[in-house]
Amino acid sequence: MNIVEIIEKKRDNQNLSSDEIQFWIEGVTDSSIPDYQTSALLMAIVLNGMTQDETNALTKSMLHSGDIINLDDIVGKKVDKHSTGGVGDKTTMILSPLVAACGAKVAKMSGRGLGHTGGTLDKLESIPNFNINLESQAFIDQVNDINVAVVGQTGNLVYADKVLYSLRDVTGTVNAIPLIASSIMSKKLAGGANCILLDVKYGEGAFMKTVDEAKELAQSMILIGESMDLEMNAMISNMNQPLGKTIGNALEVYEAVLTLKNQGPKELEELCLIASGIMLRQAGLATSDEQGYEIALENLRNGNAYRTFLEWIAAQGGDVTMFDDLDQFIESNHAKQVIAKQDGFIHDIHALELGMVSMHLGAGRQKVEDTIDYKAGIIIQKEIGDSVKKGDVLCELLSSNPIKIKEVDDAEACFIITSDEREKPQLIADVL
Ligand code: URA
Repeated sequence: MNIVEIIEKKRDNQNLSSDEIQFWIEGVTDSSIPDYQTSALLMAIVLNGMTQDETNALTKSMLHSGDIINLDDIVGKKVDKHSTGGVGDKTTMILSPLVAACGAKVAKMSGRGLGHTGGTLDKLESIPNFNINLESQAFIDQVNDINVAVVGQTGNLVYADKVLYSLRDVTGTVNAIPLIASSIMSKKLAGGANCILLDVKYGEGAFMKTVDEAKELAQSMILIGESMDLEMNAMISNMNQPLGKTIGNALEVYEAVLTLKNQGPKELEELCLIASGIMLRQAGLATSDEQGYEIALENLRNGNAYRTFLEWIAAQGGDVTMFDDLDQFIESNHAKQVIAKQDGFIHDIHALELGMVSMHLGAGRQKVEDTIDYKAGIIIQKEIGDSVKKGDVLCELLSSNPIKIKEVDDAEACFIITSDEREKPQLIADVL
């Protein structure tokens, strides 16, 4: 086989065979195919697309380019949730203990954040002493004991994705559904779960800008998973404004704790209950999504979910006394209120730009080697549809570094205020 012929085939909009895709990915993995040829092929895929069969074959080849985690020693079905990334997305920290409290097994590998989207690991590490590096036997034992563990990635999962992603990042080839779907699903499959719920975001703060694009991505990922016998579902959810009322690390843990204590924002709670309902049905612990929702609701209201959260954090060494005084947990050295300059209604919130502000305050990394200020971030006081008066607080900026707070002079512009009333947007557009 010859890589030039494969590139030419895709350039001419022909379908690649599984063997040709396998040849390419093996060449990426052993470095026998140079980056310039892979970049050319990536661009041809962006321009001409891939069929679902090609996307499935690409995912399978990528999956086998690195280690695959074996979770067979965990008794029962393993459920996992994957969000395509959003601003203020703290759902893993709520959903994991919530479904674990209902009997589901959550053996989750999470990542660190880069850019405006924070990673769950960074958020969890804002809890003093929380350990994300469990030995694989300890990881499995913990899930068997208390149903939940969340750790950093171990081993060398999906090596080809590391190469492809770094090339896509610098060649304008990130945004193509077959490439995104195969990248996400190969890593999910390597993580060893039997059931996956995807939360595919659409909107300003997401990869996919419209509901239709998000559905197309979700459908492709569902078909990949089903071709490998996984139980798959997807929620299509709105990322036109940050999820919940906080962006940042300790701040998002705080909001997750409030939600688990039945004091969180209603929309965030609803999203987590709907997601839990689906995951419990996938795991065989409910006969329908609706029954799963009711089981999750009961375990949230009766405190089981919060008790499981505390047990989980303590099992991984985290200092749970931090949650005795939540105000102190999020107290930051420096803060500034962002004030509305006119009366009206919040018509839009630029989620992505608020995410960038939060990163600038210290909550995220611009470069991999940047350190995180766990207390930095944003508390949002006004949401789309709210009425505002001139002088109202739109949001509050927090940071340990006063200079960083001073440097932010455009946070007010993230809130678009108009005189027309605006309906509150629906958070979940569809469930597939
Ligand atoms: N997330 C991934 O892991 N891969 C992509 O290609 C896009 C988002």
